[in-house]
Amino acid sequence: MILADKVALVTGGASGMGRAGAHRFAREGAKVVVADLNEAGAKEVAEQIVDQGGSAVAVSCDVGTEQDNIAVVRTATETYGGLDIFWANAGIPQAFRRIAEIDPSEFDKLVAINARAPWLGARAALPALQARGGGSFILTASLSGLKGRPDASAYQASKGAATMLVRSLAKEFGPYGIRVNSVCPIASETPMWAQFMNGYMEPDNAANTFAQGIPLGRLAEPEDVANAALFFAGPDSAYISGVNLPVDGGSSA
Ligand SMILES: NC(=O)c1ccc[n+]([C@@H]2O[C@H](COP(=O)([O-])OP(=O)(O)OC[C@H]3O[C@@H](n4cnc5c(N)ncnc54)[C@H](O)[C@@H]3O)[C@@H](O)[C@H]2O)c1
Repeated sequence: MILADKVALVTGGASGMGRAGAHRFAREGAKVVVADLNEAGAKEVAEQIVDQGGSAVAVSCDVGTEQDNIAVVRTATETYGGLDIFWANAGIPQAFRRIAEIDPSEFDKLVAINARAPWLGARAALPALQARGGGSFILTASLSGLKGRPDASAYQASKGAATMLVRSLAKEFGPYGIRVNSVCPIASETPMWAQFMNGYMEPDNAANTFAQGIPLGRLAEPEDVANAALFFAGPDSAYISGVNLPVDGGSSA
C-alpha cells in the first residue's frame, strides 16, 4: 500500500474522477478527506470507503472561497493530524459554443473554479504540507489546458491558467519538498460530459465521435485519471514536479 499513513484530501471527491481517486487512494492506505459542494455525494463516498475497511471523512465546501479551502485543510489536520496530499480536482465545464454565445460572467465563473480555486487550495495547503516536511499538490487540469480546440474558449483559458499554475508552484514549493503536478484528462463520460455537450452534440454520439479520434480508441475512464493522480501522490514520482501529464489515450502524441 503505497499511501500507508498518508493523509489525502480530494476536492470534487463526490463524483467522477475525484470519486474514483478517493477510492483509489484509500485502497492504497491513505486516510481520505472527501471534499465537495455536493455534501450527500461526499458522505456517500466516505461511507463506502469506511465500509470497505478504509478511513475517510466527508466535508462540504465551495472551493471557490478562501475560507472553505482553509476549512478543508483544517478538517484534515484536526481529524488525521496532518496533510500529505491535496488533489485540487473540483472543476466546472463550459457547454461547447462560439465565443459570441458565451456570457462574460461565465468566463469569470470558469476561471474562479478551475484556476483561482486550485490557487486558493495551494495557498491553504502550503503550511500543512510544510509541517509534514513535504508533500504532493495535484491539480486536475485538462487536455484543454494544453491543446486548443474551437468552441471551448472560456474553459480552455481557465484550464490553461491551471497548467501554468502547476509550473509556477512547482518552482515556488520545490524548496519545501512539495511537488506540484497535474493530470490532464481527455474527455470522460462523467456527469460533466453531458454539460459539455449541452445543445452541441447528442452526448452518446459525441462520445463515439471523440473516441474515434483517440489512438487507444476510447474515452478516459475516471479510474485512468485516478491512477495517474496516484502516481503523483505516491513515492514513485518523488523526483517529478511541474509536469502537466496528458491522460489522453495518446491523443496529444
Ligand atoms: N469529464 C471530462 O470530460 C473532463 C475532461 C478533462 C478534465 N476534466 C476535469 O476533471 C475534473 C473532475 O471532473 P469530472 O469529470 O469528474 O466531473 P464531475 O462533474 O463528475 O465531478 C466534479 C465534482 O466537482 C464538484 N464541484 C464543482 N464545483 C465545486 C465547488 N465550487 N466546490 C466544491 N466542489 C465542486 C462537483 O460537485 C462534482 O462532485 C474537473 O476539474 C474537470 O474540469 C473533466
